[in-house]
Amino acid sequence: MTACGGSSGGGQSNNQPDNHTEVTPPVDPNPNPTPSQPRQWTPAGGQATIAYNEHRPFLTLIPHLDINQLSGVSQGRELFITNWTPAGEGRALFDGLGPLFNAVSCTSCHSDSGRVSPYLADGTTTDGVLFRIGNKQGDVHPIWGAQLQPKVIDNTVGLLAEGKVHAHTKSASATALKNEGLSYYQFELTPYDSNQHLGNYHLGARIAPQLLGMGLLDLVPEDVILANADPDDTDNNGISGRVHWVFEGGQKRIGRFGWKAINSSLRTQNATAMSQDMGLTTPVHIDSSCTPDQPLCTLLPLGGSPEVSDASLSAVVSFMTALSVPERRIHDQVRFDKGADLFEQVGCAQCHIPTLTTGESQQFYELSNQTIYAYTDLLLHDMGEGLDDGVKEINAESYEWRTPPLWGIGIVAKDKNARFLHDGRAKTLKEAILWHGGEAEKTREQFQQLTEQEQQTLLQFLQGI
Ligand code: HEC
Ligand code: HEC
Repeated sequence: MTACGGSSGGGQSNNQPDNHTEVTPPVDPNPNPTPSQPRQWTPAGGQATIAYNEHRPFLTLIPHLDINQLSGVSQGRELFITNWTPAGEGRALFDGLGPLFNAVSCTSCHSDSGRVSPYLADGTTTDGVLFRIGNKQGDVHPIWGAQLQPKVIDNTVGLLAEGKVHAHTKSASATALKNEGLSYYQFELTPYDSNQHLGNYHLGARIAPQLLGMGLLDLVPEDVILANADPDDTDNNGISGRVHWVFEGGQKRIGRFGWKAINSSLRTQNATAMSQDMGLTTPVHIDSSCTPDQPLCTLLPLGGSPEVSDASLSAVVSFMTALSVPERRIHDQVRFDKGADLFEQVGCAQCHIPTLTTGESQQFYELSNQTIYAYTDLLLHDMGEGLDDGVKEINAESYEWRTPPLWGIGIVAKDKNARFLHDGRAKTLKEAILWHGGEAEKTREQFQQLTEQEQQTLLQFLQGI
């Protein structure tokens, strides 16, 4: 039995053991396919749901925003799609890129059709993936810092970009995965300065996720997230989701954004993207992303201090907050409901919790008190050795990952070049499931024990959520 028995009614789940958890799980792997009563589905993103647009499924706004709400949001959208330029090129609002950076715009990595394909056929890496540099103790690289910046602005002081990464495909070593034809990537870094080395540090690949419903996730109250946490596995179901506590503005907050939930709010997430991915300073990260061991980097001019004003940062946060959720795409309601049952039966819903509720929004009333079908608990889980990349970030161990929201994942999967999991090793949704280990080991086995047709029904359900 899953911890989210209340999901069919759209209610908030909690981890209080109920009577169901005492019952021995049914032995029959093919229980009655027909639910006793039809499920009542409310819109996937509550009032922030919009009709699915196959040409532009993501980065679209919640419906019916009034003119006042729209003004900041439109400015934020412009800042999100613009190509930032280095300081001194006469575009005061949009300058300050670099000196070191990953990409020139947010949209280089987050496209409106989902995910940017991270690897080319020859193993070249694209803007669709970036690399954290660290180790199991959580230290960051002494010269390059926490993230590799593969690009540098034109300069006369001789500052070089940090390095470029090549991805080599390797067959999975565990027999079960090998038999399924699964592969992963091993990364090779070539530093641009031959005096610098990766040393004993590891590269942690992070692909850029699709962006939808960000404001809703930002608004889930901390006590709702805490109610699903079970760090000591007191209910003995093998799942011990825990909160990633981080500090924001001197306060202890629950991390919820990124593959390891390292950012606790959209404001810090966006400011960190500006700093680390684009080399833009903000009121949150007032210093440029050069480390003290990159003296040439600090010689180059800045595009103001900060380069992105508080008003501009707030506008981008408003745009992110106002992102809608595309409605489900269901062709066969009975089969979809059966898929939802299987998703719960095999245990996916223990981490990909179907529903959460949001708190009050001061800015967009449409986001307040909504029941959302994001399919996440926003918690960290031990996902096993196969997904351990040797890089700890803040308090998230190298083998711990935040349950990613699954809404919209079927839209992403329509693109044959899209990739899944934190490093994009999975080419299909099924491959992503087969890599699940650690706390998800038992669930993965139960998925594999389903008949071929049941597996397809579950995957079909994922296509529609
Ligand atoms: C170089 C590519 C790149 C650029 C440029 C970039 N991002 Fe990202 N973005 C990522 C990656 C990779 C992640 C996942 C990060 C992690 O795991 O910590 C991410 C995560 C996010 C998230 C959290 C998503 C989630 O589901 O938790 C938001 C919001 C976001 N980015 C917004 C932005 C904004 C706004 C900008 C521009 C200011 C931006 N990004 C620029 C690659 C990029
Ligand atoms: C123990 C918690 C847990 C369980 C149980 C679980 N998942 Fe996951 N799932 C995760 C985490 C954490 C990740 C991210 C792992 C990574 O990126 O390395 C993930 C990733 C995924 C992804 C890839 C998402 C993306 O954005 O690329 C899919 C698809 C997925 N899970 C589906 C399922 C399905 C279907 C089931 C049931 C068969 C399931 N999961 C069971 C925690 C869980």
